[in-house]
Amino acid sequence: MKKVTKAVIPAAGLGTRFLPATKALPKEMLPVVDTPTIQYIVDEAQKSGIEDIVIVIGKGKRSIEDHFDSNVMLEDNLEKKGKLELLDSIKKTNNMNIYFIRQSYPRGLGDAVLTARSFIGDEPFVVMLGDDLMKSKVPLTKQLMDSYEKTGNSTLSVMRVPHDDTSKYGVIDPESKIDEGLYNVNSFVEKPNPDDAPSDLAIIGRYLLTPEIFDILKKTKPGKGNEIQLTDAINTLNQTQRVSAYEFTGNRYDTGNKLSWLETNIEFGLNRPSIKEELKQYIKDLANSFDN
Ligand code: G1P
Repeated sequence: MKKVTKAVIPAAGLGTRFLPATKALPKEMLPVVDTPTIQYIVDEAQKSGIEDIVIVIGKGKRSIEDHFDSNVMLEDNLEKKGKLELLDSIKKTNNMNIYFIRQSYPRGLGDAVLTARSFIGDEPFVVMLGDDLMKSKVPLTKQLMDSYEKTGNSTLSVMRVPHDDTSKYGVIDPESKIDEGLYNVNSFVEKPNPDDAPSDLAIIGRYLLTPEIFDILKKTKPGKGNEIQLTDAINTLNQTQRVSAYEFTGNRYDTGNKLSWLETNIEFGLNRPSIKEELKQYIKDLANSFDN
C-alpha cells in the first residue's frame, strides 16, 4: 500500500458568503485571532505527517502565495527592532513544501481537485478544504490516514448536523457500520433538499482519496450549482472501489460563514493566554449590558 504524503488544499472559491470582505481578500486569508485560516489547515497537514502540499488558487489569491513566502524587508525590520517572537511567527511559514496551481475558471471543487492530478500522480492523497477548521487530539487528517492504513479504502469525514442543514453539505446514505465510527456507504448526495436527505451525516472538509478519482473527475458532468462536484465523483468511485465514511467526534469550525467565523474567533481567542482574561471579562460585561 502506498503511503499518503501529499495534500491538496482547494482555495480557488470566490467566497461569496463573506462579501464584501472577500471582494479583494481571499476568504482563506481571513484571520482567526491573528492567523489566516489556511495556516491552520497547513499546520494540520504537517502535524499529520503530510510532506508536500499543493494549494489550488485562482484570480485575486496572490496574498496566499505571499503568506507562504519570505518577506525579507519585514524580517530585517523585526530583527533590527529585536522583535524576535514576531520574527519567528512570520518565518514559520517560509520554506514549507508548498506549491501552487491556478484554476482558471471557478468550475467547482471537483475541477479544483482535478487540476492537482500531475502533482499527485499515482498515489493516495488528502483533500483539505480551506475554510473548515478541525480541533481534536489527533488531527482529523491523521485519523483518516490511520483508517486508510487499516482498510485501504478512500475515506472521507462526516459529522452529524441538524437535519435542516443537510442542504448545505454533501450527505451520505450509510449502508453498514464496519468499525466504531466507520461506515460503508450506499450513496453520496451533494446538497440534498432536507426532505430527500438520506441521513444527517454530512461530509466535512477532509477527504482521503485514491488516485482513481482523477479519471472519474475527468468524466464527471456539472452537477449541483452547475459545478463539477467532488461528491458526485466520489459516489461514482464507490461503485467500483469502496469509499468509507469516518465520523469525526472533535470540533469543527466553519470559517466561511459569518456567524460561525465570529464564534470561532471568540473561542480561539478564549484559548489564547495573552488575551484570554481580558476577552472573558469583555464578553461578561457585554452580556450584562444587554441584560439591562
Ligand atoms: C463543499 C462540498 C460539500 C461538503 C462541504 C463541507 O461544499 O461540496 O460536499 O459537505 O464542502 O464544508 P461548499 O461548502 O464548498 O459549498
